[in-house]
Amino acid sequence: MTTVENSQLVSGIPWPVIQGGDDEVVYFDDKPWVEMQDLGYTGSYSKVISVDRENRIVIFLYDMAPNTSFPMHQHKCRVLAYTISGEWWYDSREELVEGTTIVEGIGSTHMPQSGDRGFRAFVVLLGERDEEVLLRRQHPQTLETLNMDFDYFERLMTADGPEVCRVTGWPTDHA
Ligand SMILES: [Fe+2]
Repeated sequence: MTTVENSQLVSGIPWPVIQGGDDEVVYFDDKPWVEMQDLGYTGSYSKVISVDRENRIVIFLYDMAPNTSFPMHQHKCRVLAYTISGEWWYDSREELVEGTTIVEGIGSTHMPQSGDRGFRAFVVLLGERDEEVLLRRQHPQTLETLNMDFDYFERLMTADGPEVCRVTGWPTDHA
């Protein structure tokens, strides 16, 4: 991505509104909630907002139902996650409550778990250049290693594929 110099954006004069080609507004109902049915746990719901392969960025809302888990996984990308509601733990560290932001680095592993209220988070995946895989996860029963790549998140965004199930409305009642 390059930044184009604009002679209008200088000190001393009011700046105009400029709409860039990448600017996008995504409303809450524009993308579907889907349940990720391939995890080995029930109750993981995603609303994928954006999959930007060029800039290696995936953005989504994630809901986990009460008292469930997400598989143990390894990060091949950096992750930023802001907890909107509820509470969760991703290992033995302290409780992650509403308003908490976490940054997960490349190579780290953990197994997120929810409490009695479930949780909702706003999540950004910052992928590496020349790396299609974002997360590697282990199925809790078979211990098989499975990759979550840009294609996987695009299938979630369009509710297309055997691992996803479209759901309507608010999938959990913790909000
Ligand atoms: Fe993670």
